[in-house]
Amino acid sequence: MKAVSYKGPHKVAVSDHPKPKLNSSTDAILKVTTSGICGSDLHMYDGRTELKQGAVVGHEIMGIIEQVGEAVRSIKKGDRVVLPFNIACGFCFNCHRGYTNACLTMNPESASAAYGYAGMGPYQGGQAEYVLVPYADFNCLKLPGTPGDEWEDDFLLLADVFPTGYHASELAGVSPGKTVAVFGAGPVGLLAAYSSVLKGASEVYVIDNIAERLEKAKDLGAVPIDFGQGDPVERIFEIRKKHQATQQSHRPGEEKMQGVDCAIDAVGYQARDDKKPSQENPTQALENCLRVVNPTGSVGIIGVYIAPDPGARDDQKKQGIFSFPLADFFSKGLTIGTGQAPVKKYNEYLRDLIISGRARPSLIVSHHIKIDQAPEAYSKFDQRTDGYTKVLIRFGEKAAA
Ligand SMILES: NC(=O)c1ccc[n+]([C@@H]2O[C@H](COP(=O)([O-])OP(=O)(O)OC[C@H]3O[C@@H](n4cnc5c(N)ncnc54)[C@H](O)[C@@H]3O)[C@@H](O)[C@H]2O)c1
Ligand SMILES: [Zn+2]
Ligand SMILES: [Zn+2]
Repeated sequence: MKAVSYKGPHKVAVSDHPKPKLNSSTDAILKVTTSGICGSDLHMYDGRTELKQGAVVGHEIMGIIEQVGEAVRSIKKGDRVVLPFNIACGFCFNCHRGYTNACLTMNPESASAAYGYAGMGPYQGGQAEYVLVPYADFNCLKLPGTPGDEWEDDFLLLADVFPTGYHASELAGVSPGKTVAVFGAGPVGLLAAYSSVLKGASEVYVIDNIAERLEKAKDLGAVPIDFGQGDPVERIFEIRKKHQATQQSHRPGEEKMQGVDCAIDAVGYQARDDKKPSQENPTQALENCLRVVNPTGSVGIIGVYIAPDPGARDDQKKQGIFSFPLADFFSKGLTIGTGQAPVKKYNEYLRDLIISGRARPSLIVSHHIKIDQAPEAYSKFDQRTDGYTKVLIRFGEKAAA
């Protein structure tokens, strides 16, 4: 079967790999119909993880079940399913409590497992024609419809970025009426903003410096802020100051709440420096979150910070150690949430929002490709050029649109 594998920094290849076989009676084999390229794949592509060459990548996967082991009870051949990027057993202490992002049994090296990802266990990725699904009863989300229908893109986004964006809004405490700033207008940031809009936030700002992505933020109901035009935090303060009704509703002293209630870092450790975007500044988005959020507010860190980072500039950063304005964090009395999203906690309800027509996350999808075009798509997505915002690989006759 054809699959995308990592070949070293800035290199992926499409080549032949053995089709997976059932390892255990609880497994299933999935024939993939669509697979996404995630911003997280770019950390590996950029050589910023310790991924071994030859590993098949991809953790946003949907398709049709081709075969199930004899112990699989609720999923059968022919079912249409999407897989959470987290691989989870369903019975350990953490899975039991809904923390499938921290499954204790699927990865001997750490408390979390995923398809085709550095440090996330021995699992083959899903940018491939077939993928093995461990504990299929637990890990498959059943879907209605047929491959290539009008829901295909929306459902694919249930594997990762839609639940992840939603989780970011949970980490940041977004609820009806609150004001939100989201740093990063990649797929995760855009869908964190969209989730905030769906939840009824009163104002949602999205910060980036890529015009096509900011345009999508606007289409999703957010206010776009280009950090290339000046300090984005000051810009948000200014916009809020100009809002007459907001100002009139303040009692004396309340003007100190010039920022927002909730801030989301949807960028992570490869953040660009606001003033010199050609350079990296790993804590840029996080520092802006701490500045823009009002006293007693909440910050959700959904963009990843990964160590070891072979591409970092100094030894501390290689180990993921960064300085952090802890005094500001403390004096404002902020709440902070971090980590991998537990996709299963949200994917059923988000699926039902899609089915009912109340959510269309696929608005963020920019490109559909065939698997042979993956090397070019990785390169363009990595450079964020030509409007490459979210790329989906289509398999089978309905490939590429
Ligand atoms: N926690 C999780 O479970 C989880 C799941 C999926 C992805 N992620 C992570 O979320 C992050 C975003 O992923 P994505 O798919 O949206 O990828 P992406 O890399 O396409 O998006 C990042 C965006 O941030 C922008 N950016 C860079 N520096 C910035 C700055 N200083 N201020 C504002 N914006 C800036 C970039 O221009 C880009 O548009 C990545 O770190 C990814 O690994 C986390
Ligand atoms: Zn991802
Ligand atoms: Zn578990």
